[in-house]
Order: sequence, then structure tokens, then C-alpha cells
Amino acid sequence: MGFIDKMIELAKADKKTIVLPEPMDKRTFEAAEKILKLDIANLVIIGTPEEIAKYGAGYDISGAKIVDPFNDPNKQKYIDKFVELRGKKGVTPESAKEQMEKDYMYYACLMCKCGDADGAVSGACHSTGNTIRPALQLLKTKPGISGVSGFFVIEVPNCDLGENGLFVFADCAVNPDNDSDKMAETAGLSAESFKAFIGAEPKVALLSFSTKGSAKHDRVDMVREAAAKAQAKFPQYQIDGELQLDAALVAEVGELKAPDSKVAGHANTLVFPDLESGNIGYKLVQRLAKANAYGPILQGLSMPVNDLSRGCYADDIVGTVAMTAVQAQQAGK
Ligand code: ACO
Repeated sequence: MGFIDKMIELAKADKKTIVLPEPMDKRTFEAAEKILKLDIANLVIIGTPEEIAKYGAGYDISGAKIVDPFNDPNKQKYIDKFVELRGKKGVTPESAKEQMEKDYMYYACLMCKCGDADGAVSGACHSTGNTIRPALQLLKTKPGISGVSGFFVIEVPNCDLGENGLFVFADCAVNPDNDSDKMAETAGLSAESFKAFIGAEPKVALLSFSTKGSAKHDRVDMVREAAAKAQAKFPQYQIDGELQLDAALVAEVGELKAPDSKVAGHANTLVFPDLESGNIGYKLVQRLAKANAYGPILQGLSMPVNDLSRGCYADDIVGTVAMTAVQAQQAGK
């Protein structure tokens, strides 16, 4: 069974309620029909009757709850919550209402925050920044975590590296300005994500162009410091760095370049030193090695909210909803 089929089976075992706030795109409805037919999650679709009629025509979404953001009996509750959370940032009842009607992702996050949904998936027609900003502002991070990052589960066909070709790659989506504290936190969160989604022991490599001092540079020092901080903060996980990619993945190279490392040569969780290398790295593997790349999945948020690529297919939305539901199950444990 492939990775995403496993996620679908897990999601079905304990159904969660997921919000889809993009009624202005046909793919939402194509995905919703599949999700409902496969019984993966309870669905809420935010949209006006006009939007639903225009883009949802021909799809059977009779099992979904439709919430019209202009005519919803719960709307005042969400406005009040928005003002409670963001009043100090200048949000008033009028501006909250306007923002929720203009940008349904705010509506979706407020539904999550008020306990009317367990998670949200958006981004088929919104940028990553616009998808995740409402979640950062309204849902905030988990207790003890200061920063959100984004990972992909990478499934490489016919590959015996990592966990039989399965990897977590991070941060590939969120933090343009990385430092050793953020990288260390991303390492710990990625280890947790690997365990939760892949179910095996994570071996986390903090990547660099240097292995254990082979090159001298401020960028190398940053990764080495991040590794030390991550080891101190997350002693329950095997974490090491700085490692070059080949030393992290390939046993013979790891043995040669970092013989004392338990991670080198066996890494299954790759933490990149900056957003450029993380974002480019996952796309290289996806395009050149024909790997499946599932994500970006956000880690560190208090509730699961996930982003889609604007080039996504309806099946990608189905997979992301399943992964979001699994995250919601984990959050409830
Ligand atoms: N973790 C937790 N909170 C954060 C984080 C973070 N990593 N980043 C920002 N925040 C919070 C801020 O503290 C702030 O909270 P506040 O309003 O309560 O004070 C709020 O989010 C907004 O912060 P800003 O600094 O104003 O951030 P901005 O609006 O610029 O947006 C964002 C943050 C959206 C994450 C931005 O950094 C971004 O666009 N990142 C890159 C996204 C991207 O384009 N990725 C690549 C494409 S994805 C792909 O290819 C799959």
C-alpha cells in the first residue's frame, strides 16, 4: 500500500471535520465528492449559494455541510472570537466581518478555533503566504513551540535509502529567514512528524555543504549550532549535523566522513539550512527522481491547517485532507 492510501485508511478510522474554503475552484468540488464517497472526513465547504452553483455543478457534495459566510447563524461567534484574538492588533467587529467575507481562510481558521472543525485545507487558488498567514495569526503555535515550518513526505520509487524510500524534508515552505534556533526547532518538529506519519524511528540530519568541520564558514557554524541545540532540546530523537547530503544518506559515505555519527548514512529526515535549498531540494527529487511529494504540511501549529500547490489536482486535495485529518487525530491524543 502506498503512503497516501495508508493516510486515507488512517483518516477513515477516526473521522475528523475538515474545512475547504475555496468554493471558487472546481477542484474543491471534485475532491469533495471523492472524499465523501471514500468516507475519509466530514467536510465543511465555505461558499455562497452562487459560488456553489457555479463551480460545484455536477458534483455530488450532498454529504458536505455548506456554510454561507454571508448568512451563517454562527457568524457573530466567529467575529467575536476574531476580535478577542486580534483586537490588540487593531481588529474591530467591522474589520473582522469584512476580512472573513473577503478571505474565507480567516473564516475557516475561526471555525477551527471555535471547535466547529478540526482542520482546514486551502491553497489551490491562493498563494502559500495568503493560505498560512490567517493560521499563524489566529491559531498560533502549539504550547512550547515558537515557530511553524513546512515539511513534505517524499516517497521515492525503487529506493532503499531513508525508510525504504520514504523521507521527511523540511523546511520547504515557511521561513525565508532561518537561524540556528528555528532550524533546531524544525529538526525536532520534523522528527515528530516523521514518527507520526511514517511510524518509524526518525534519524534527523541537519544539512550543509560541510560534514563535521570539513569546511569553515558562518553558514556551517549556524547548522552545527542548530544541531547542538536540537540535540539538547529533543534528546529523545537521533539528530546530527552538520552533514552533507551524501554523508547523511549513503552508508559508505557516512562511515567515511562521519564515522562516529549514528545518523550519518541512515538519515530519513532531512532538515535544510534555508528555505531556498529546502524548496529547490524537494522539487528536484520530485521532478528528476519522479518522487511523490506530499505537502507542504505545516508543523508546530496548534491545529492542523495545510496548504496546496496552485498546480494541484483534485487527488492532491484528497491526499492533503487525509493527512490533515491524521494530524487532527494526533493532536487529540
Ligand atoms: N511561525 C509562527 N508564527 C509566524 C511565523 C512562523 N514561522 N512567521 C510569521 N509568524 C507570525 C508572526 O509572528 C505574526 O504574528 P502576529 O501578527 O500575531 O504578530 C504573523 O505570523 C504575521 O507575521 P509577518 O511577519 O507579518 O509575516 P508575513 O505576513 O510576512 O507572513 C509568512 C509570514 C506567510 C509565513 C511569510 O514568511 C511567507 O510568505 N513565507 C514564504 C512562503 C512561501 O512563499 N513559500 C514557498 C512556496 S511553498 C511551495 O513551494 C510548496
